[in-house]
Amino acid sequence: MEIIIQPSAEAASSYVARYLAAQINNRPNIVLGLATGGTPEPVYAELIQMYEAGQVDFSRVTTFNLDEYVGLSADHSQSYRYYMRSHLFDRVNIPLENTHFPDGMTDDIPRECRRYEQAIAAAGGIDLQLLGIGRDGHIGFNEPTSSLSSRTRIKTLTEETLRDNARYFESEEHVPYHVLTMGIGTIRNSRCILLLAHGASKAEAIAASVEGPLSAMVPASALQLNEQVIFVVDEAAASKLSRRDYYKWVFENKPAWQQVV
Ligand code: GLP
Repeated sequence: MEIIIQPSAEAASSYVARYLAAQINNRPNIVLGLATGGTPEPVYAELIQMYEAGQVDFSRVTTFNLDEYVGLSADHSQSYRYYMRSHLFDRVNIPLENTHFPDGMTDDIPRECRRYEQAIAAAGGIDLQLLGIGRDGHIGFNEPTSSLSSRTRIKTLTEETLRDNARYFESEEHVPYHVLTMGIGTIRNSRCILLLAHGASKAEAIAASVEGPLSAMVPASALQLNEQVIFVVDEAAASKLSRRDYYKWVFENKPAWQQVV
């Protein structure tokens, strides 16, 4: 695992945006896994700026989003399809047919979940998966006690996640209880994982994921098993890491040939 500690939330987001752009430029037909939530918003804003400046081209990129609410259609302002269009897709040159989501409006959830897994496999798998993290350590919508080998399926949100996500809805009662999400096994199949977190509210989840025991109680701890995983955090989110000086030392002394951005 690589733990990159940046001085501020802005610097952490900018690092991730530049990392993504560098990977797209290296491999124009890259398959990206994308995340929603407040955390990636500045990343997408910077990618739009880079696109407008002619520094990155999305015309051959394929994307798979982590998750979607059950019962919200693409034109619902809180659906993740809507989020991705307004925060990124409608503002860069990605063909919409290259963007994929689990369909929260399906009338056959098990079939839709199988279809999503098959679509990821048919695209050759995910090269680079961007993740945020919930305060309880969830990734995608894999709440604590999710199987560490789970595939795309329906999940029921915890009350904590419902409360956290209520800020985007009229009120807590409007947040759907059910979601479709890539499983932890699906996420772990990605060739590279880039997890971004900032703010003190994420510090415990980051410490438990990076330095705690591997446990279904902290879904992001499953990433310890991955070959290529990078946590990009600001000082506040890093504040409960016991070995943060070591992580900084490693980053400062990274050989030039290993530096992506
Ligand atoms: C939701 C999303 C996750 C996201 C998490 C944290 O539950 N499904 O993908 O990482 O929220 O969101 P935020 O970045 O707003 O803190």
